[in-house]
Amino acid sequence: MKALYICDNKDEWLTLNGLFAGNFPKVELICCLNGSDALDHLAYEGPFAIVMIEASIREENPSTLGQRILETVGERPIIFMGSEVHIKDRVDNDLYNGHPINAIIHTPYDIEVFKEVITSTLEWAKKEEFEESIEEIDREELLPMRVRNFYMFKVVPYDVYLELTQTKFIKIIKRNQPYTHAKIQSYAKKNIKNLYLGKNDFIRMLEDGIEKVTEGLSQKNASLKSIFGNQIRAALIIQQYIRAIGVSDDIQALCSLIIETTDKTIRRYESPTEVISKIPFNTCDFAEQAILTSYYCEAILHNLGWKSDLSRKKLGLASLLQDSTLSNEDLIKVSGAEDPNLQMFTREEQDEYLSHPIQAAEIAKQFQGYSEADFIIAQQHEKPNGTGFPFGVTANKMTAHSCAFILASTYVSKLAISGKKDDDKNRIIDQLKVDYNLGNFKEPLMALVKAVKT
Ligand SMILES: [Fe+2]
Repeated sequence: MKALYICDNKDEWLTLNGLFAGNFPKVELICCLNGSDALDHLAYEGPFAIVMIEASIREENPSTLGQRILETVGERPIIFMGSEVHIKDRVDNDLYNGHPINAIIHTPYDIEVFKEVITSTLEWAKKEEFEESIEEIDREELLPMRVRNFYMFKVVPYDVYLELTQTKFIKIIKRNQPYTHAKIQSYAKKNIKNLYLGKNDFIRMLEDGIEKVTEGLSQKNASLKSIFGNQIRAALIIQQYIRAIGVSDDIQALCSLIIETTDKTIRRYESPTEVISKIPFNTCDFAEQAILTSYYCEAILHNLGWKSDLSRKKLGLASLLQDSTLSNEDLIKVSGAEDPNLQMFTREEQDEYLSHPIQAAEIAKQFQGYSEADFIIAQQHEKPNGTGFPFGVTANKMTAHSCAFILASTYVSKLAISGKKDDDKNRIIDQLKVDYNLGNFKEPLMALVKAVKT
């Protein structure tokens, strides 16, 4: 078992090390200077049966730090150590009384009290079966699940792992045990994109996710925040499901529900631009890009006065599926086949990128009732002068729908890799006006300019 001690006075480390070595030789004591080091240890080197905080630490209040630890790693006892004065002034009674095993050990240490407190904490940890342990797992048995999915639930019926090395994984969420969203956030902040699940659990989680977002999107009078949140989560599920399993009836139903919701949401407002300004575009991953693109497509249709349901449906599906076959999110940084950034990816990923318009078009063919969506998707990266990919066709070979989609999708992907400020928006639009003011692009370009600038 491991114990964690947070204290900025290294002399105290020595004292405590001596006490553990003499009385609990099987417990490995890890000492750290501050809260952020402690959270790193807790996240990557668990399980820790005991967490001890020195009440005199200077960088932050020991009670706040204790609270932060509980919010991040979940319920567990915390022991506050220190002189009577520091404990009295700096340890919050509510927090201290919040867990039956929470304890205080005054310094200088009384050996008997120390032994008694540590023994009862170790017993608690044993009873709780600390399964947050490092395991050697064949990675063929696991599938990566995007971190964002875990915000949909507070408890899941499967074990969830974090990748430490190619073969080593640490179980960070135990089946049927509540986890905190702060814990998920702490991984997201460290730029961890995926957590891992067994293959069957992976499919179950996507199916549970479909149910959850369908329920959310079917709610009447939902707030814009909840609508966008559910649409983005749904787009992410669709992308992952298509890559892992393929197209199913449930996925088709979910796509049409997203498209319907977009239409209904826009109708609630005076102009699409008003709605678009409220869409979250933070991580700018393919899911956020899919939803923002679909709203810009709606805005272009609205500004052009095109009211056909089929136009709406095919541009909506194109938005959701356009990048669904790309497995590496970092490919959002690539702006085209000629972009030197593409060289930073593996050969396989480069091929995947170059063929994704065709692969995604193949996926679209499996959907019923969206004629031409596959052509539109296949042409997503074409340019009016024929310098796009994969076909290099020119503006006169593209339908007005393709042109509208290319403009919305290109604008959103350029926005994703910009600073996302008003200046960036204007700069991107000015560039589009130079490159795309040709043939069938002209009218949708003006409609997009109106959507962005008003
Ligand atoms: Fe794309």
